[in-house]
Amino acid sequence: MEKMDKLILITGGAGFIGTHVIKLFVRKYPNYRIINLDKLTYAGNLENLRDVENLPNYEFVRGDIVDKDFIDRLFEKHRFDGVIHLAAESHVDRSISNPLEFINTNIVGTVNLLNAARQIWANDSEGKLFYHVSTDEVYGSLGETGYFTEETSYDPRSPYSASKASSDHLVNAFHHTYGLPIVMSNCSNNYGPYQFPEKLLPLFINNIRNNKALPVYGKGENVRDWLYVGDHANAIDMIYHNGRLGNNYNVGGNNEWQNIMLIKKLIEILDRKLGREVGTSLNLLSYVKDRAGHDLRYAIDSSKLQNELGWEPSVNFEQGLELTVDWYLDNEEWMRNVTSGEYQKYYEIQYMKR
Ligand code: NAD
Ligand code: DAU
Repeated sequence: MEKMDKLILITGGAGFIGTHVIKLFVRKYPNYRIINLDKLTYAGNLENLRDVENLPNYEFVRGDIVDKDFIDRLFEKHRFDGVIHLAAESHVDRSISNPLEFINTNIVGTVNLLNAARQIWANDSEGKLFYHVSTDEVYGSLGETGYFTEETSYDPRSPYSASKASSDHLVNAFHHTYGLPIVMSNCSNNYGPYQFPEKLLPLFINNIRNNKALPVYGKGENVRDWLYVGDHANAIDMIYHNGRLGNNYNVGGNNEWQNIMLIKKLIEILDRKLGREVGTSLNLLSYVKDRAGHDLRYAIDSSKLQNELGWEPSVNFEQGLELTVDWYLDNEEWMRNVTSGEYQKYYEIQYMKR
């Protein structure tokens, strides 16, 4: 094989955001060799990566970041130049029913990667980088005003966000204690193709198409800041290459929507695309028991990323939502595949009790 400039490990590359990051890096940097490490949990799907799987600079390795010996061997074998760490348990509702899984993957798994990187880079960390991909949920919940900045104190309130916050602290601790070259980002809610239909948008798109109830938690008053997933992948690319060591960067869409307003917008788009009279699917709205500890509002101030690295969101929300809906409507088979088997059991447990 031709000499590659950099060997990068991307964890969680078969998940939603990982899929977009892998595709971006593999295509944009033919001189990088990208190894995708993924356990292929319910959320990981190699079908997403079919169009890049045969490229010469891409390789898939199946494995669990919680398995320390496996991780140590993998780092010893490949001696990566960089790590972009996305693998995680990522769904808040699942963290409420099964917190331990989140502690293991998000905390122990991250420490295994940090330790392995520290060992192989102990004598020469020049040009090496550990990039930790995190979430805005570590900052807790906002009231009706204000934004999360990089200086906002951590105040995680769900087992998911507490496990991510803990992993963020460990990443910073490895930087300060061992001099590990790290960078980190905290992003708001992503939307786009390949998102597993347990998250709001793909779940509701699928339910509207199938005339199934739309389970709105509480009164639908909670606010999220939505960013197209491709813009998050671009931010990761910029931060990986130009972010300042030891820094974290907030990434967000400056695009706040109250859940119920977003859901009504989605209904309007889908009714139009499905040839139904606009408003027909409003009758699917079903207000159900609220998520425990449901954070009211997230909103990101991403001016550090914009001013330092020149990043800005490129996909306007109207267009992004249209193209996302089109993707799910055009990829019925993908949806059928990921919603078969285990998914049915999850759905029953998650929604029948509400
Ligand atoms: P996802 O759940 O779609 O994908 C997670 C991937 O990690 C899956 O492919 C899964 O198989 C893999 N994985 C899980 N446990 C593993 C383990 N023990 N070992 C190896 N691989 C494992 O998640 P996502 O939405 O793509 O999120 C990716 C990252 O970005 C996460 O760290 C998440 O916290 C963060 N994030 C997500 C969002 C969002 O809106 N989705 C926003 C900000 C940050
Ligand atoms: O902010 C970044 C985070 O965004 C990421 O770190 C998480 O990995 C990602 O899952 C997402 O978390 P949320 O909890 O905000 O996303 P979710 O799609 O689960 O829910 C979005 C909003 O919609 C939230 O207020 C809860 C509500 N909701 C969700 C579901 C699944 C409903 O009302 N009904 C539902 O059935």
